[in-house]
Amino acid sequence: MISNMFTKFIHDFDVDFKRLVDKYGTPLYFLDAERVRENYLNLHSNVTNLWKNSLICYAYKANSTLALLKVLRDMGAGAEVVSGGELYAAKLVNMPPERIVFDGVSKSPLELAEAIRENILLINVESMEELSLIDKFASKFNVKVSLGIRINFDVKVDTHHYITTGRRFNKFGMDPDSAYTAYKKAQKMKNVNVKGIHIHIGSQILDIFPYVEVKEKLVNFCRKLKSTLKLALKYVDLGGGFGISYREYEKSFPISDYCENVVKPLTSYAGSIFDDDFKIILEPGRFIVGDAGILITRVNYVKESGGYKWVLVDAGMNDLIRPALYGAFHPIIPLSKVKDEYEIYNIAGPICESSDIFYIGFKAPLIRPGDLLAILNVGAYGISMSSQYNCRPRAAVVMRDNGEIKLVRRRENYNDIFRCDILEKS
Ligand code: LLP
Repeated sequence: MISNMFTKFIHDFDVDFKRLVDKYGTPLYFLDAERVRENYLNLHSNVTNLWKNSLICYAYKANSTLALLKVLRDMGAGAEVVSGGELYAAKLVNMPPERIVFDGVSKSPLELAEAIRENILLINVESMEELSLIDKFASKFNVKVSLGIRINFDVKVDTHHYITTGRRFNKFGMDPDSAYTAYKKAQKMKNVNVKGIHIHIGSQILDIFPYVEVKEKLVNFCRKLKSTLKLALKYVDLGGGFGISYREYEKSFPISDYCENVVKPLTSYAGSIFDDDFKIILEPGRFIVGDAGILITRVNYVKESGGYKWVLVDAGMNDLIRPALYGAFHPIIPLSKVKDEYEIYNIAGPICESSDIFYIGFKAPLIRPGDLLAILNVGAYGISMSSQYNCRPRAAVVMRDNGEIKLVRRRENYNDIFRCDILEKS
């Protein structure tokens, strides 16, 4: 059923999508820079009201469209990067190195060397082996590298099991005992400066309880670091994971409660467990860009088969993989003129996979070939997870900023798909 909340949502955007697709074609990603700014400022003001020395490092994996990265850089956001490619993107938008943190469970030697060369704020280490490799590189380059250690405190979160990251059985981080040994070892290394602690417990989390739980574990751990190793950390990186509302009954993450119950208690440890002027780092992705993106798709066919009515659209799981990969729900709104007659449809894409379905049992006004549909809340993990599967060029991206809508990523063409292939002449 089409929800009033989301119909209002699309009207709030106040965009003539029909004209837009006449110009740029479909499927088309639309991003709203103003919404991104609002989301960033909401988070930023809540955190800085409590603690001035904080840095919001936007998680590039959520959406790394360069024009969007530039908007966030201009707002003062930092970057959370997890690959050489994302580090490169940060450089392309002139992100100051002192605002970049590098995370990731399996950073390659080359990626580590690149991060060390850039002299970024923090590399968050996830294993003893990584720590040794960084020390080796740092002494070779004759530099001192700032490090954090990612700890896996085994905290349960209520989200899709593919996107929990802070359970004991997840591959991420180090368990507290190994992490303690790593801090001890790092303190003795000449070329590293161990200054931070890092956690990230999962994604699309809608309540603050797991964060409160992990905060307590983090404080206890840092108390031990201070009392036994005389180590008062300078950077407390709390990760991201703040969820947004995909369904009418869901409330997006209560950021002010989070600040009150997680950020504020931490600030009371300045000068005792933590350094006097310690920095709080957050790494949100979805919360900043999730509701700022819409995917516009055109209906190719409406057919009946096996007792079902199928609406077959021109966007597929290569454009938006979340429904196929996680069974994720995205609201859909028909943009074409609607008749007052309703039908129940399954909305699916063109990809040759049965999981290429966006919505099962969509109650909507009659849909016809040529109609436009808007798939909502696709700003995070939409474009960034898109692929060329089935040899489909990736969609174009437009962005509205200061009342103007501009193309910020052109539609790929067939040549783009085969750009890297090497075909010997026969
Ligand atoms: N920091 C680290 C270390 C992360 O691994 C992630 C996300 C983030 C920050 C940002 O998380 P966010 O605030 O966006 O929840 N593809 C999935 C989400 C995977 C998230 C992976 N890590 C999805 O479409 O739901």
